[in-house]
Amino acid sequence: MSNKKSLVPHNIDELKAYVPGKTIAEVKEQFKPERISKLASNENRLGRSKKVDEAVNKALEIVHDYPDPAAHALRNAIASRYSITADRIMCGAGSESLLAGLCRTFFLNKENLITADATFIGIYVQAKIRGIKVKRIPLTKGYRFDVKAIVNAVDEQTKMIYIANPNNPTGSYITKDEYALLLGQVPEDVLIVMDEAYYEYANSVSDYPDVMSNQPKNVIILRTFSKGYGLAGFRVGYAIADPEIITYLMKTRLAFEPGTLAQAAALAAFDDNDFMKKSTQIVEEGKRDLYQFFDNHSIKYVRSAANFVMIEMLDGEAAEFVTSEMLKKGVILRRINAFGLPDCIRITIGIPEEMEHFKTTFREIYLNSSRTKS
Ligand SMILES: Cc1ncc(COP(=O)(O)O)c(C=O)c1O
Repeated sequence: MSNKKSLVPHNIDELKAYVPGKTIAEVKEQFKPERISKLASNENRLGRSKKVDEAVNKALEIVHDYPDPAAHALRNAIASRYSITADRIMCGAGSESLLAGLCRTFFLNKENLITADATFIGIYVQAKIRGIKVKRIPLTKGYRFDVKAIVNAVDEQTKMIYIANPNNPTGSYITKDEYALLLGQVPEDVLIVMDEAYYEYANSVSDYPDVMSNQPKNVIILRTFSKGYGLAGFRVGYAIADPEIITYLMKTRLAFEPGTLAQAAALAAFDDNDFMKKSTQIVEEGKRDLYQFFDNHSIKYVRSAANFVMIEMLDGEAAEFVTSEMLKKGVILRRINAFGLPDCIRITIGIPEEMEHFKTTFREIYLNSSRTKS
């Protein structure tokens, strides 16, 4: 046995590096399909607001200087839209960076975090990096957060509860009543993180909670420009919380996130209501059509408040077969075994041409082999 000291702590050694979905260029090169529909990463398939390009070109003029570390213009725009003060807002390089900040800032030794068993992987990774114990609460049978079980799991050492609302990869959401239950039952010294990465798609759902108008001091909202605004490549997200919480997050952040171009892009995108309206409309219509398609073929799916839909295959083998065969035909999907749901596949809602490509290929590949759970 070697006595050599480990290069890294055990928790880092145990981490698995993120395996991203295939890029369009890789799929083109490998399979040379007639067309490619990238439906794997929940980006906005409509692209981005046209206003973004102009703003970014202008910002190029000052890109040799460091960015505004306080992201004043962007924070003021967000504050003004939501009638809150800018000291309640912090911007970062995507909401994942803000999650990392939360994990690095608030946990004392032995304090734990509670979340669901199948939720956004970023939270598991960031917690593991910090050596935080995570209590993973199984989803309900309908693939929903089990809010009662989460509340019951709170103990003396609980520092934070993380809820992705809507949840990735399931698309399900916690309702107004469930949010009220959380607020009513969870002690005030436990932080509740409401990750609203898909807020722009979910906020029209009638019982989706309006967290910002009922946000006690221990609740932190996370939002992003990666999804509805179509700026995933720029890396911009923001946290809304009590100024005291923001002050602590500011102390531990990397000073110059987001970059100059990203701040300019987000500011321009934030103003373009027409683009957002069009984006959410495409997703609503796409989901309606997809539900019909799955109903017609007796395929089990979860109704989604986000811009993707999760379906359940007979088993992991069937899920692997569908994702790998569809990839060869240029339809990039996400098998979500890494989220702990090996039988399921997540499909991002694309523009109508992409959804037609999905349906035609799915029919051809899967329905011919007819292996679904109904
Ligand atoms: C629930 C949830 N939170 C956060 C993120 C991270 O988004 P970003 O870092 O691009 O803002 C994602 C991305 O898939 C997500 O699904």
